[in-house]
Amino acid sequence: MSVADILETMDYGEAPESLAEALAWLVDQGSRFGHFIDGAFTKPGDGFESRNPATGEVLATLTQASEADVDAAVKAARKAQPAWEKLGSHGRARVLYAIARLLQKHSRLFAVLEVLDNGKPIREARDIDVPLAQRHFYYHAGMAQLMESELPDAEALGVCGQIIPWNFPLLMLAWKVAPALAMGNTVVLKPAEYTSLTAMLFADICVQAGVPKGVVNIVTGDGAVGEMIVAADVDKIAFTGSTEVGRKIREATAGSGKALTLELGGKSPYIVFDDADLDSAVEGLVDAIWFNQGQVCCAGSRLLVQEPAADLFYAKLRHRMDKLRMGSPLDKSIDVGTLVDPVQLQTVSGMVAANTAGHVHVADTPLPDQGCFYPPTLITGLNPADTLMQEEIFGPVLVSTTFRTPAEAVELANNSRYGLAASVWSENVNLALDVAPKLAVGVVWVNGTNMMDAAAGFGGVRESGFGREGGWEGLAAYTRRKGSAKALKEIEAFTGEGSTVDGIDRTAKLYIGGKQARPDGGYSAPVYGKSGKLLGHASIANRKDVRNAVEAAQAAKGWSKTTGHLRAQILYYIAENLQARADEFAARLDAMQGGKSGAKEVEASVKRLFTYAAWADKYDGQVHGVPIRGVAIAMKEPVGVIGALCPAEAPLLGLISCMAPAIAMGNRVILSASEPFPLAATDFIQVLETSDVPAGVVNILTGPQADLADPLARHMDVDAAWSFGAKALSKVVEKGSATNLKRTWVNNGMARDWMGAGGEGHDFLRAATEVKNIWVPYGE
Ligand code: NAI
Repeated sequence: MSVADILETMDYGEAPESLAEALAWLVDQGSRFGHFIDGAFTKPGDGFESRNPATGEVLATLTQASEADVDAAVKAARKAQPAWEKLGSHGRARVLYAIARLLQKHSRLFAVLEVLDNGKPIREARDIDVPLAQRHFYYHAGMAQLMESELPDAEALGVCGQIIPWNFPLLMLAWKVAPALAMGNTVVLKPAEYTSLTAMLFADICVQAGVPKGVVNIVTGDGAVGEMIVAADVDKIAFTGSTEVGRKIREATAGSGKALTLELGGKSPYIVFDDADLDSAVEGLVDAIWFNQGQVCCAGSRLLVQEPAADLFYAKLRHRMDKLRMGSPLDKSIDVGTLVDPVQLQTVSGMVAANTAGHVHVADTPLPDQGCFYPPTLITGLNPADTLMQEEIFGPVLVSTTFRTPAEAVELANNSRYGLAASVWSENVNLALDVAPKLAVGVVWVNGTNMMDAAAGFGGVRESGFGREGGWEGLAAYTRRKGSAKALKEIEAFTGEGSTVDGIDRTAKLYIGGKQARPDGGYSAPVYGKSGKLLGHASIANRKDVRNAVEAAQAAKGWSKTTGHLRAQILYYIAENLQARADEFAARLDAMQGGKSGAKEVEASVKRLFTYAAWADKYDGQVHGVPIRGVAIAMKEPVGVIGALCPAEAPLLGLISCMAPAIAMGNRVILSASEPFPLAATDFIQVLETSDVPAGVVNILTGPQADLADPLARHMDVDAAWSFGAKALSKVVEKGSATNLKRTWVNNGMARDWMGAGGEGHDFLRAATEVKNIWVPYGE
């Protein structure tokens, strides 16, 4: 065959990677694994087999963890944690660095083992999974080193339970373990049941790297073991996997005080404008949807093509698909390997078979006659509501539709319950950077796809979960602010007598959509001072009022697009107008609460408004240096609509402490005012009305927070829910949030020093923003 023939046919010879070393390692381990607990492997017990999905061969037997195993792992982690944290920045940095070096040293063994266990092409494991895992440990060795100097107020959370999926077994382990360890936590990690082998090899590496015993613990098993970890005495759960399981974990951890981050599914749009470099965009799609057989949470699985370019683009794409090579994952010449397991093959085949819409093109590439292979597939001409346009397939199946205008592209892109990532292809930088901020996702790649790096936070919005992994922004998930919090003292409203104030019925209304509104139920409750004197009445809001307030907040979207400069001016103006009525507010606070702290509370409130006016145009993002020909611009965007149950104590300052950071960052809020002392909030409505706050940006409800917490937390159009109210409400809010997996921030019954540093600062700004990483080409 001549070179010309080869170029024409793209025929190729096999180039298999040797599996001898990996098999020898398995044999060395007896091909049977126990758990890795307290620095040593336990005796193998009853369990399950791990198979090579390309051949069906059994690779090893793993042990299904029992409650006692999980308990032992958590206890070991708990015992090891204080010493690990005390080892200090440099001590931990050295250990993480040693892990990175050993991962590098054994990279070929890791790559081959990963391929055997998972079925991904060796090219990918060798060039992406394993190098990125090393990079994560190097990067976080640096974060450990810098923690003491750069994050002096941060401390470890304690013991972290980490549950990871099967699509990037070693890489997901690295994403979870490296930052946790860097910040002084210890871990109990469970790999996915299909793919535990590289985690076992990693345990071996930990021993060699001198990781103190108990700092890293690995237990194996199925979802039942995951459930045990979720229920165990851990301080945090970090989960990557399906949205369905993520939702269960959100519900199971509600009210437990455990921190939680969820990195879930996606249906990421891949937007091709007609002025894009179409050949590059086609090549990008190979990496977007056929990388790892499409078993990628951020896979560009939903192709949106601008109409003038659609026919040509689809033609080029089909041509390219037909050239993709499927074959033994160990063959260095193949593009597409096997799905992870027959179960996944069945799921993907079933979803495609059930679809009757659109036009299906299956790559004209020979399918190996055994193994979990599924051919690259393109389905064009779908409607946005078609099942395959909405549901995550998690296989090599690309679905597509067309659009006409950039506005339509954005609308289609955002027409999803997910919000993980998006790719935008255009040669027009103005267009690409105009579209990027409009996409409801955590990561945007401009003229690229599926790029990841330890320096850039990764994670989504909506039902793709919350929290970021990587970058400075990822560290918040593994730290908390130093200092010991006191338990919240719950406050009862005063009781008294009388039905009118000075013969006049004074019933404060709610504040919805810029207007004072009567409560839907028509009820109000009397508010008495400490001496039992009637001060007035406050409306009792119900779930219909919550809905109205959410609608008003949604309609005020324009606020999120205003400049920080404008928002600062409005916050200063609110402060000025509050100051003008300082005496009146002080008197009201004293009358409601008894005592004489009103004037101080008003003063602190004015100061706090100034603080967030100051921050409104200064809480900037970052530019991450990532090892590609480009940069990742980490933008801090508003979360959207935030519902907040304000504290009972500090009735004015608490309300302002929730409102000001939220609106400073461009969010719209629904505030449920202090339940025992609601009248400072209702007086504050008049201040808002005179301060140029656009209608719907701030909405204020009064009434029992227990009635409002659930509808607020469950509402699908609320993007985050905060609770600084009674302890029991933390659980209500976290549980309810599972509907759309909104972000939550709750007090778990711990008090906050509203007058002091605990009432403001970076925690509030972080909770009020979402980091979006936009990867753009830059330099050479
Ligand atoms: P899964 O979400 O069930 O499994 C992920 C991990 O969670 C595994 O370690 C599993 O053992 C564990 N787990 C399962 N049930 C649990 C529970 N109740 N509590 C705690 N841990 C639990 O994912 P699965 O079933 O392997 O895949 C199903 C679908 O999920 C895929 O087809 C895909 O659509 C999606 N998926 C998404 C991933 C992502 O990265 N976003 C990764 C893996 C799956």
